[in-house]
Amino acid sequence: MKKLFSTLLILLLPLISLVAQSNAEPVIVSIWDDPYLLFYTSVGFMFAVILLVLTVAVYMLKVLNIMVKKAQMERAAQEGREFKQEPSLWEKIWQGANKFVPVEKEATILLDHNYDGIRELDNHLPPWWTYLFIGTVIWGVIYFFAYHVTDSLPLSIGEYDNEVALANDQIQKRKAAAPGIQIDESNVLATTDAADLKDGKSTFTSICASCHRADGGGDIGPNLTDDYWKNGGSMTDIYKVVKNGVTGTNMVAWGGTMSPEKMRNVSSYLLTLIGTNPVNAKKPEGVLFKAEPVAPKSDSVKIQAGL
Ligand code: HEC
Repeated sequence: MKKLFSTLLILLLPLISLVAQSNAEPVIVSIWDDPYLLFYTSVGFMFAVILLVLTVAVYMLKVLNIMVKKAQMERAAQEGREFKQEPSLWEKIWQGANKFVPVEKEATILLDHNYDGIRELDNHLPPWWTYLFIGTVIWGVIYFFAYHVTDSLPLSIGEYDNEVALANDQIQKRKAAAPGIQIDESNVLATTDAADLKDGKSTFTSICASCHRADGGGDIGPNLTDDYWKNGGSMTDIYKVVKNGVTGTNMVAWGGTMSPEKMRNVSSYLLTLIGTNPVNAKKPEGVLFKAEPVAPKSDSVKIQAGL
Protein backbone atom coordinates (compact mmCIF):
# COMPACT_ATOMS: atom_id res chain seq x y z
CA MET A 1 0.00 0.00 0.00
CA LYS A 2 2.81 2.36 0.97
CA LYS A 3 4.58 1.53 -2.25
CA LEU A 4 1.45 2.20 -4.24
CA PHE A 5 1.10 5.61 -2.64
CA SER A 6 4.70 6.63 -3.26
CA THR A 7 4.52 5.48 -6.88
CA LEU A 8 1.36 7.48 -7.29
CA LEU A 9 2.99 10.52 -5.73
CA ILE A 10 5.99 10.28 -8.03
CA LEU A 11 3.65 9.99 -10.98
CA LEU A 12 1.70 13.02 -9.86
CA LEU A 13 4.58 15.29 -8.82
CA PRO A 14 5.30 16.73 -12.28
CA LEU A 15 1.61 17.43 -12.57
CA ILE A 16 1.50 19.30 -9.28
CA SER A 17 4.50 21.46 -10.17
CA LEU A 18 2.92 22.13 -13.53
CA VAL A 19 -0.20 23.40 -11.82
CA ALA A 20 1.86 25.46 -9.40
CA GLN A 21 3.74 27.10 -12.24
CA SER A 22 0.80 28.05 -14.36
CA ASN A 23 -0.20 31.11 -12.42
CA ALA A 24 -2.12 32.66 -15.28
CA GLU A 25 -5.76 31.67 -15.01
CA PRO A 26 -6.00 28.23 -16.57
CA VAL A 27 -8.60 28.23 -19.31
CA ILE A 28 -10.29 24.85 -19.26
CA VAL A 29 -11.62 24.16 -22.71
CA SER A 30 -12.61 20.53 -22.26
CA ILE A 31 -12.35 17.96 -19.52
CA TRP A 32 -9.19 16.55 -21.20
CA ASP A 33 -7.41 19.85 -20.57
CA ASP A 34 -8.16 19.75 -16.87
CA PRO A 35 -4.73 19.48 -15.21
CA TYR A 36 -6.25 17.42 -12.40
CA LEU A 37 -7.62 14.80 -14.78
CA LEU A 38 -4.69 12.43 -14.21
CA PHE A 39 -5.03 12.89 -10.47
CA TYR A 40 -8.74 12.16 -10.44
CA THR A 41 -8.44 9.13 -12.71
CA SER A 42 -5.54 7.76 -10.64
CA VAL A 43 -7.46 8.13 -7.38
CA GLY A 44 -10.59 6.67 -8.97
CA PHE A 45 -8.58 3.76 -10.34
CA MET A 46 -7.01 3.17 -6.93
CA PHE A 47 -10.41 3.00 -5.24
CA ALA A 48 -11.72 0.64 -7.90
CA VAL A 49 -8.73 -1.67 -7.33
CA ILE A 50 -9.15 -1.57 -3.55
CA LEU A 51 -12.84 -2.37 -3.90
CA LEU A 52 -12.07 -5.25 -6.22
CA VAL A 53 -9.44 -6.70 -3.88
CA LEU A 54 -11.83 -6.44 -0.93
CA THR A 55 -14.64 -8.12 -2.84
CA VAL A 56 -12.36 -10.97 -3.88
CA ALA A 57 -11.10 -11.35 -0.28
CA VAL A 58 -14.64 -11.54 1.12
CA TYR A 59 -15.61 -14.03 -1.55
CA MET A 60 -12.58 -16.24 -0.84
CA LEU A 61 -13.40 -16.18 2.86
CA LYS A 62 -16.94 -17.30 2.14
CA VAL A 63 -15.68 -20.15 -0.02
CA LEU A 64 -13.20 -21.14 2.69
CA ASN A 65 -16.00 -21.13 5.26
CA ILE A 66 -18.16 -23.36 3.12
CA MET A 67 -15.26 -25.80 2.67
CA VAL A 68 -14.54 -25.92 6.39
CA LYS A 69 -18.23 -26.49 7.13
CA LYS A 70 -18.36 -29.30 4.58
CA ALA A 71 -15.33 -30.97 6.11
CA GLN A 72 -16.89 -30.73 9.57
CA MET A 73 -20.14 -32.23 8.27
CA GLU A 74 -18.27 -35.13 6.68
CA ARG A 75 -16.31 -35.81 9.84
CA ALA A 76 -19.53 -35.74 11.91
CA ALA A 77 -21.13 -38.21 9.45
CA GLN A 78 -18.10 -40.53 9.70
CA GLU A 79 -18.17 -40.45 13.46
CA GLY A 80 -21.87 -40.99 13.36
CA ARG A 81 -22.88 -37.94 15.35
CA GLU A 82 -25.19 -35.11 14.48
CA PHE A 83 -23.56 -32.05 12.91
CA LYS A 84 -24.09 -28.90 14.89
CA GLN A 85 -22.96 -25.67 13.33
CA GLU A 86 -20.64 -23.54 15.46
CA PRO A 87 -21.78 -19.93 15.70
CA SER A 88 -19.52 -17.58 13.74
CA LEU A 89 -17.21 -15.19 15.54
CA TRP A 90 -19.50 -12.29 14.72
CA GLU A 91 -22.52 -14.15 16.07
CA LYS A 92 -20.63 -14.89 19.29
CA ILE A 93 -19.66 -11.24 19.72
CA TRP A 94 -23.20 -10.06 18.95
CA GLN A 95 -24.72 -12.54 21.38
CA GLY A 96 -22.16 -11.70 24.09
CA ALA A 97 -22.71 -7.98 23.72
CA ASN A 98 -26.50 -8.22 23.87
CA LYS A 99 -27.33 -11.38 25.80
CA PHE A 100 -30.77 -11.49 24.23
CA VAL A 101 -33.36 -13.63 25.93
CA PRO A 102 -34.52 -16.08 23.26
CA VAL A 103 -38.10 -15.67 22.09
CA GLU A 104 -39.02 -19.10 23.47
CA LYS A 105 -37.99 -17.99 26.96
CA GLU A 106 -39.64 -14.59 26.90
CA ALA A 107 -42.39 -15.84 29.18
CA THR A 108 -39.86 -15.92 32.04
CA ILE A 109 -39.28 -12.18 31.90
CA LEU A 110 -42.81 -11.05 31.18
CA LEU A 111 -44.05 -8.55 33.79
CA ASP A 112 -47.48 -9.09 35.20
CA HIS A 113 -49.11 -5.83 34.20
CA ASN A 114 -51.17 -5.44 31.10
CA TYR A 115 -52.27 -2.05 29.68
CA ASP A 116 -55.00 -2.63 27.12
CA GLY A 117 -53.07 -5.58 25.76
CA ILE A 118 -49.68 -3.87 25.90
CA ARG A 119 -47.36 -5.95 28.03
CA GLU A 120 -43.78 -5.43 29.08
CA LEU A 121 -40.68 -7.57 29.16
CA ASP A 122 -38.24 -7.10 32.01
CA ASN A 123 -35.17 -7.09 29.79
CA HIS A 124 -31.83 -6.62 31.51
CA LEU A 125 -29.45 -3.92 30.36
CA PRO A 126 -27.42 -5.19 27.42
CA PRO A 127 -23.81 -5.92 28.47
CA TRP A 128 -22.36 -3.49 25.89
CA TRP A 129 -24.31 -0.72 27.57
CA THR A 130 -23.22 -1.73 31.07
CA TYR A 131 -19.55 -1.97 30.07
CA LEU A 132 -19.74 1.39 28.34
CA PHE A 133 -21.26 2.87 31.46
CA ILE A 134 -18.58 1.38 33.72
CA GLY A 135 -15.97 2.60 31.23
CA THR A 136 -17.24 6.18 31.41
CA VAL A 137 -17.24 6.06 35.20
CA ILE A 138 -13.62 4.86 35.25
CA TRP A 139 -12.71 7.48 32.67
CA GLY A 140 -14.46 10.14 34.75
CA VAL A 141 -12.46 9.21 37.84
CA ILE A 142 -9.17 9.28 35.92
CA TYR A 143 -10.12 12.60 34.34
CA PHE A 144 -11.07 14.11 37.68
CA PHE A 145 -7.81 13.11 39.31
CA ALA A 146 -5.62 14.02 36.34
CA TYR A 147 -7.18 17.42 35.68
CA HIS A 148 -8.58 18.62 38.99
CA VAL A 149 -6.85 16.84 41.86
CA THR A 150 -3.25 16.28 40.82
CA ASP A 151 -3.27 19.01 38.12
CA SER A 152 -0.94 16.81 36.06
CA LEU A 153 -2.68 17.79 32.83
CA PRO A 154 -3.60 21.37 31.87
CA LEU A 155 -7.20 22.52 31.53
CA SER A 156 -8.28 24.42 28.41
CA ILE A 157 -7.25 27.77 29.86
CA GLY A 158 -3.89 26.28 30.83
CA GLU A 159 -3.42 24.90 27.32
CA TYR A 160 -4.18 28.34 25.93
CA ASP A 161 -1.71 30.03 28.27
CA ASN A 162 0.95 27.47 27.36
CA GLU A 163 0.48 28.11 23.66
CA VAL A 164 0.59 31.88 24.11
CA ALA A 165 3.78 31.53 26.15
CA LEU A 166 5.27 29.30 23.46
CA ALA A 167 4.33 31.74 20.70
CA ASN A 168 5.81 34.66 22.65
CA ASP A 169 8.95 32.64 23.11
CA GLN A 170 9.16 32.00 19.38
CA ILE A 171 8.61 35.68 18.62
CA GLN A 172 11.45 36.60 20.97
CA LYS A 173 13.71 34.02 19.37
CA ARG A 174 12.88 35.17 15.88
CA LYS A 175 13.48 38.79 16.84
CA ALA A 176 16.78 37.85 18.43
CA ALA A 177 17.80 35.90 15.32
CA ALA A 178 16.98 38.77 12.94
CA PRO A 179 17.85 42.03 14.61
CA GLY A 180 17.63 45.27 12.70
CA ILE A 181 14.70 47.43 11.86
CA GLN A 182 11.41 45.95 10.83
CA ILE A 183 10.35 47.34 7.49
CA ASP A 184 7.26 49.54 7.46
CA GLU A 185 6.13 52.67 5.62
CA SER A 186 8.03 54.93 7.99
CA ASN A 187 11.42 53.48 7.08
CA VAL A 188 11.05 51.54 3.84
CA LEU A 189 13.83 52.03 1.32
CA ALA A 190 13.95 50.81 -2.25
CA THR A 191 16.29 47.89 -2.68
CA THR A 192 18.61 47.46 -5.65
CA ASP A 193 19.72 44.00 -4.65
CA ALA A 194 19.34 41.66 -7.63
CA ALA A 195 17.88 38.79 -5.60
CA ASP A 196 15.35 41.11 -3.92
CA LEU A 197 14.30 42.57 -7.26
CA LYS A 198 13.97 39.07 -8.70
CA ASP A 199 11.73 38.17 -5.79
CA GLY A 200 9.73 41.37 -6.42
CA LYS A 201 9.38 40.47 -10.07
CA SER A 202 8.12 36.99 -9.27
CA THR A 203 5.56 38.43 -6.83
CA PHE A 204 4.49 40.90 -9.46
CA THR A 205 4.05 38.32 -12.22
CA SER A 206 2.26 35.85 -10.01
CA ILE A 207 -0.06 38.19 -8.10
CA CYS A 208 -0.19 41.67 -9.54
CA ALA A 209 0.11 41.03 -13.28
CA SER A 210 -3.51 39.89 -13.53
CA CYS A 211 -4.60 43.49 -13.00
CA HIS A 212 -1.55 45.55 -13.94
CA ARG A 213 -0.30 43.37 -16.83
CA ALA A 214 3.00 41.49 -16.70
CA ASP A 215 4.88 44.49 -18.10
CA GLY A 216 3.08 46.91 -15.76
CA GLY A 217 1.28 48.55 -18.70
CA GLY A 218 -2.03 48.48 -16.84
CA ASP A 219 -5.35 46.72 -17.32
CA ILE A 220 -7.87 46.70 -14.47
CA GLY A 221 -5.30 48.58 -12.45
CA PRO A 222 -3.48 51.66 -13.72
CA ASN A 223 -0.32 51.83 -15.78
CA LEU A 224 2.61 51.57 -13.38
CA THR A 225 5.31 52.43 -15.91
CA ASP A 226 4.60 56.14 -16.41
CA ASP A 227 5.22 59.18 -14.24
CA TYR A 228 1.56 59.67 -13.37
CA TRP A 229 0.28 58.31 -10.11
CA LYS A 230 -3.10 58.41 -8.44
CA ASN A 231 -1.70 57.75 -4.99
CA GLY A 232 1.77 59.22 -5.24
CA GLY A 233 4.83 57.72 -6.91
CA SER A 234 7.46 57.67 -4.18
CA MET A 235 8.74 54.42 -2.74
CA THR A 236 6.82 55.15 0.47
CA ASP A 237 3.62 55.93 -1.47
CA ILE A 238 3.85 52.73 -3.49
CA TYR A 239 4.67 50.65 -0.41
CA LYS A 240 1.66 52.14 1.38
CA VAL A 241 -0.69 51.32 -1.52
CA VAL A 242 0.61 47.74 -1.69
CA LYS A 243 0.32 47.32 2.07
CA ASN A 244 -3.00 49.03 2.71
CA GLY A 245 -4.68 48.88 -0.71
CA VAL A 246 -6.93 51.65 -2.00
CA THR A 247 -10.33 51.44 -0.35
CA GLY A 248 -13.24 51.20 -2.72
CA THR A 249 -11.13 49.87 -5.61
CA ASN A 250 -9.94 46.48 -6.76
CA MET A 251 -6.56 47.23 -5.24
CA VAL A 252 -6.81 45.28 -2.02
CA ALA A 253 -4.45 45.46 0.95
CA TRP A 254 -1.65 42.89 0.75
CA GLY A 255 -0.25 43.71 4.18
CA GLY A 256 -2.13 40.84 5.80
CA THR A 257 -0.80 38.17 3.49
CA MET A 258 2.58 39.46 2.32
CA SER A 259 5.68 39.95 4.44
CA PRO A 260 7.10 43.48 4.69
CA GLU A 261 10.21 42.29 2.80
CA LYS A 262 8.11 40.93 -0.06
CA MET A 263 6.13 44.19 -0.25
CA ARG A 264 9.39 46.16 -0.24
CA ASN A 265 10.76 43.95 -3.01
CA VAL A 266 7.72 44.23 -5.25
CA SER A 267 7.53 48.01 -4.71
CA SER A 268 11.21 48.33 -5.58
CA TYR A 269 10.65 46.23 -8.69
CA LEU A 270 7.85 48.61 -9.68
CA LEU A 271 10.27 51.54 -9.59
CA THR A 272 12.42 49.74 -12.17
CA LEU A 273 9.44 49.58 -14.53
CA ILE A 274 8.98 53.34 -14.68
CA GLY A 275 9.86 54.68 -18.11
CA THR A 276 9.85 51.29 -19.83
CA ASN A 277 6.99 52.38 -22.15
CA PRO A 278 5.41 49.00 -22.88
CA VAL A 279 3.29 48.78 -26.04
CA ASN A 280 -0.46 49.37 -25.71
CA ALA A 281 -0.02 50.65 -22.19
CA LYS A 282 -2.94 52.31 -20.47
CA LYS A 283 -3.18 56.11 -20.63
CA PRO A 284 -1.62 57.94 -17.69
CA GLU A 285 -3.91 58.40 -14.70
CA GLY A 286 -3.48 60.68 -11.72
CA VAL A 287 -0.97 63.48 -11.37
CA LEU A 288 2.58 63.85 -12.59
CA PHE A 289 5.04 62.70 -10.01
CA LYS A 290 8.60 63.65 -10.65
CA ALA A 291 10.01 60.36 -9.53
CA GLU A 292 13.52 59.54 -8.60
CA PRO A 293 15.49 57.94 -11.43
CA VAL A 294 14.74 54.31 -12.22
CA ALA A 295 16.05 52.02 -9.48
CA PRO A 296 17.16 54.90 -7.30
CA LYS A 297 20.53 54.79 -5.69
CA SER A 298 20.42 54.03 -2.04
CA ASP A 299 21.54 57.47 -0.83
CA SER A 300 18.99 59.30 -3.00
CA VAL A 301 16.29 57.15 -1.46
CA LYS A 302 17.53 58.01 1.97
CA ILE A 303 17.03 61.69 1.15
CA GLN A 304 13.60 60.88 -0.20
CA ALA A 305 12.65 58.98 2.91
CA GLY A 306 13.92 61.86 5.04
CA LEU A 307 16.80 59.93 6.58
C1 HEC B 1 -7.63 42.81 -8.57
C2 HEC B 1 -6.82 43.73 -9.32
C3 HEC B 1 -5.52 44.21 -8.77
C4 HEC B 1 -4.47 43.46 -8.29
C5 HEC B 1 -4.37 41.94 -8.19
C6 HEC B 1 -3.44 44.37 -7.93
N1 HEC B 1 -3.86 45.64 -8.17
FE1 HEC B 1 -2.76 47.30 -7.86
N2 HEC B 1 -4.34 48.46 -8.41
C7 HEC B 1 -5.54 47.99 -8.84
C8 HEC B 1 -6.43 49.12 -9.07
C9 HEC B 1 -7.86 49.04 -9.57
C10 HEC B 1 -5.70 50.28 -8.73
C11 HEC B 1 -6.18 51.72 -8.78
C12 HEC B 1 -6.53 52.20 -7.41
C13 HEC B 1 -7.01 53.65 -7.42
O1 HEC B 1 -7.96 53.92 -8.15
O2 HEC B 1 -6.40 54.42 -6.69
C14 HEC B 1 -4.40 49.81 -8.32
C15 HEC B 1 -3.38 50.66 -7.92
C16 HEC B 1 -2.10 50.25 -7.64
C17 HEC B 1 -1.01 51.14 -7.37
C18 HEC B 1 -1.10 52.66 -7.32
C19 HEC B 1 -1.13 53.19 -8.69
C20 HEC B 1 -1.35 54.70 -8.72
O3 HEC B 1 -1.49 55.20 -9.79
O4 HEC B 1 -1.33 55.29 -7.64
C21 HEC B 1 0.11 50.38 -7.16
C22 HEC B 1 1.49 50.88 -6.82
C23 HEC B 1 -0.31 49.02 -7.30
N3 HEC B 1 -1.64 48.96 -7.59
C24 HEC B 1 0.53 47.95 -7.13
C25 HEC B 1 0.09 46.63 -7.09
C26 HEC B 1 0.91 45.53 -6.70
C27 HEC B 1 2.38 45.60 -6.31
C28 HEC B 1 0.13 44.43 -6.76
C29 HEC B 1 0.50 42.99 -6.39
C30 HEC B 1 0.94 42.77 -5.07
C31 HEC B 1 -1.18 44.83 -7.20
N4 HEC B 1 -1.17 46.18 -7.39
C32 HEC B 1 -2.23 43.98 -7.41
C33 HEC B 1 -5.88 46.67 -9.06
C34 HEC B 1 -5.10 45.59 -8.67
